[in-house]
Amino acid sequence: MSIKDKEKWDKKYNQIPTLLEPREATLFVKKYATVGGGLKALDLACGVGRNSIYLANRGFSVDSIDISKEALDILNSRINFGVNTIEADLDDYIFKDRYNIIVKCNYLDRGLIERTKSSLELGGVYIVETYLDDKDNEKKESNPNFLLKKGELKQIFKDGFEILEYNEFTNESFESYRMKKAAIAVRKI
Ligand SMILES: C[S@@+](CC[C@H](N)C(=O)[O-])C[C@H]1O[C@@H](n2cnc3c(N)ncnc32)[C@H](O)[C@@H]1O
Repeated sequence: MSIKDKEKWDKKYNQIPTLLEPREATLFVKKYATVGGGLKALDLACGVGRNSIYLANRGFSVDSIDISKEALDILNSRINFGVNTIEADLDDYIFKDRYNIIVKCNYLDRGLIERTKSSLELGGVYIVETYLDDKDNEKKESNPNFLLKKGELKQIFKDGFEILEYNEFTNESFESYRMKKAAIAVRKI
């Protein structure tokens, strides 16, 4: 486990109370994860689990992975069914199960998307939403690799997936900085 990432995120969750506030699930999760009875979902870098909680409430059985114990403790305190929290470093986590929906929100790791494509069942939905490289972003990211290029998500999913919807937009008002984001929902074919 990357101790540095873990310490960094545990500290953030301890020191920035707004990160712990319950939030609505992201738009594409609400739009494309409607029926989940008996189905499995994977929430990558779930944080305090706004998307995990939404999915569990719709009947999905959710594996929720994050490196921060602080975040997972909050998630576990908010729901006691449907969510299986896993404290792990996604840099080297080995995925064994297969899922009907995979969500990766506000966490960019291109390699992780590639590694998890095969964990999605045929017909399953993959949803990614994260920050875009844009000149008007209020926060200048120290590592440009953590930002998407415009249209990049469509390239990432061009083979073997049907694009259900793609959007570029300004982030939600509760976030600390005005940033451009991109979101995609695709179906594995
Ligand atoms: C900005 S938060 C996103 C939380 C959630 N997906 C959401 O959209 O509300 C990023 C999350 O990534 C987690 N994270 C960072 N590096 C990680 C790693 N190497 N392995 C697993 N989780 C990691 C952090 O602990 C944090 O909860």
